[in-house]
Amino acid sequence: MKHCIVFIIALLALSCSCVNRLTEGSLVSAQSPDCKVGAGLYLDSCGAPYLKVFVDKNEFVTVRNIGLTTNDSLNLTSGFHLCSSHSCNTPYHTDSLLWGENKVVKIQNNGCCVALVNNDSVRMELEFLVANDGFAFRYSYSGIDSTLLTGESTTYHFPSDGSSWSIPANFESYEFAYRQQPISQTIDANTPFTFVTSDSLWGSLHESNLRNMPEMTLVRDSVDSLCFHTWLCPDNTGSGTVAHYGPNQHTSWRTITIGRQAVDLINSTFNLTLNTCHRQYGVPDNEFLQSRPIKYIGVWWGMHLGIHSWTPDLRHGATTERAKRYIDFAAQNNIDAVLFEGWNLGWEQWGGTQVFDFVKSAPDFDVEQVIDYAQSKGVQMIMHHETGGNIPHYEEEMERAFQWCEDHNIHYVKTGYAGGFPNRHLHHSQYGVNHYQRVVECARRHKISLIVHEPIKPTGLRFSYPNLMSAEGARGMEWNAWSDGNSPAHETILPFTRLLAGPMDYTPGIFDITYRRIQHDPNCQKWNMKDARECRVNTTLAKQVALWVVLYSPVVMASDLIENYQIEQPDGTMVIHPMFQFFRHYNPDCDWSSALQGEPGQYVAIARRAGNTYYLGAVTNENPRALSIALDFLPKRKHFCATIYADAADAHYLTNPTSYKITRQMVSSRDVLALSLAAGGGCAVVLTEED
Ligand code: NOJ
Ligand code: CA
Repeated sequence: MKHCIVFIIALLALSCSCVNRLTEGSLVSAQSPDCKVGAGLYLDSCGAPYLKVFVDKNEFVTVRNIGLTTNDSLNLTSGFHLCSSHSCNTPYHTDSLLWGENKVVKIQNNGCCVALVNNDSVRMELEFLVANDGFAFRYSYSGIDSTLLTGESTTYHFPSDGSSWSIPANFESYEFAYRQQPISQTIDANTPFTFVTSDSLWGSLHESNLRNMPEMTLVRDSVDSLCFHTWLCPDNTGSGTVAHYGPNQHTSWRTITIGRQAVDLINSTFNLTLNTCHRQYGVPDNEFLQSRPIKYIGVWWGMHLGIHSWTPDLRHGATTERAKRYIDFAAQNNIDAVLFEGWNLGWEQWGGTQVFDFVKSAPDFDVEQVIDYAQSKGVQMIMHHETGGNIPHYEEEMERAFQWCEDHNIHYVKTGYAGGFPNRHLHHSQYGVNHYQRVVECARRHKISLIVHEPIKPTGLRFSYPNLMSAEGARGMEWNAWSDGNSPAHETILPFTRLLAGPMDYTPGIFDITYRRIQHDPNCQKWNMKDARECRVNTTLAKQVALWVVLYSPVVMASDLIENYQIEQPDGTMVIHPMFQFFRHYNPDCDWSSALQGEPGQYVAIARRAGNTYYLGAVTNENPRALSIALDFLPKRKHFCATIYADAADAHYLTNPTSYKITRQMVSSRDVLALSLAAGGGCAVVLTEED
């Protein structure tokens, strides 16, 4: 045994010294705790700092031209020499989250903090760190104040080509179809930018703790196709300014999550834990008592299909009568909350500068009566604040609006920013980033949790503000109602890209896959790109069920019309759709999660645990797939009953999407579960412990 330990220590020392050798010539360097990831800081011949990142002794990514550019003559990027350095390691510890994919997260990384001074007496403080699953750096300039920032010069260099998954860079929206393409053919990209190298190492480039800065995107160099420039979202002046920079303000962490397998990226909490936990700000857990995971339904899908309207006209969705029906359905089906879009005044004048009222309801929606009714049934309300992008108006009103919610014992608000911001401000600018932050802080003061649509991209701020519960920020379900829709591959890419940034309110759960119910509805109106009657969802029914597990959100919606969760019996009575039993049983208050298998664009299988119950979700692209899932994540020597909500043998997302089968079998940790997924299909499993 003793010899064995000595041997392991010797091996570790050897591999650490290998990484050490790789960073020879650096000013300072750091190695990950497992010695597999290393990074060194160097100065080039012009005194410009650069960072080389190594994984398994190979160059992984090099970061050059680190620094910001300004509109005056100050040189912030070169002519530097090292002033001082010290290591800033974070020893192994765990932290607990109030909610999340995992309630306990492990944190350990090694890093260096250096001070560099250049010929213009500019002092740059640069921090970088490495963990077993990531690399990050950030920097600040001391003494530089109110400099008008014109950009960031930092570039990322890949040593060789690989594949990548990303959406295009855009400063107004993230709602685009994902592209799988060689790294070298990516003209521009938003982050998370996920890639796999020619040595089969996985990475995802993103940012963490984005505050008071514009968001960062990537643009390929015009000559070197493996070099990407940082492209920050500009401000509204048209002068090329991107932000106003405060004294000693550091950039967000620029991060690369690293994995040996694609699923390692999903299992990493590296990005999240670079944010500061709320407790470190002295904010006690009990300030977030209301930020609990919930399941919800809503008066929502009907508007996207065009059979209901947000405006209080004849097709108005949010009527008092419908609200009560939804509340009854929630109460009867173990669903915590109901969302009502179009409940308030302001929708009548959609278009132009939008002025919503966030405390007055539409004439046919008696908000006080609906709240009383919901509370009498133990169902929570989710209020909807669509801003239309009118930020000045929302900032004037939000204090009053959140106070109104607090007064009515309402703890959840869905916000929305469908529309351009006034005065040519862009959604993803410093102005936008600061706005979204102010809303989170204001909501927190009123004990309100947020679900943000058209958000700024998540960068882990939920670690500091647990009331920032979910966000959209990618093409969600709504696109299936009024466009060509999301491809079957889309939901297999999201966990490896957008969801690395944080939970997503994708709103799965459409059971009427081909919109049969609305085909003859005379009220149905086209209101967006396509008439819903010509649209459909590009999945099977079982895949919709699986998405409740696969696409993590602590506030999880069953998004279809409640009529579609019920089946009419020959005698006219209604019973709950057997596949909806999954949602009734599902507990979104997860304790533990693990992505087990998969690759972006192909398939993914994820297991979660809430209390003693385990849930498994697996989804595939347009290809059918047979999966063997080792159940070794279950506790040993215990027996579980697995209820499997699967595609039937004849299911196919195009030709037979609603064909399903539900089976049961006893399993233990020693078993391997065989799952069969149809083309565009999926499978969801509930594993309950048996005595
Ligand atoms: C876009 C949001 O993503 C959607 O959920 C909402 O229904 C509409 N805006 C209207 O607010
Ligand atoms: Ca949207």
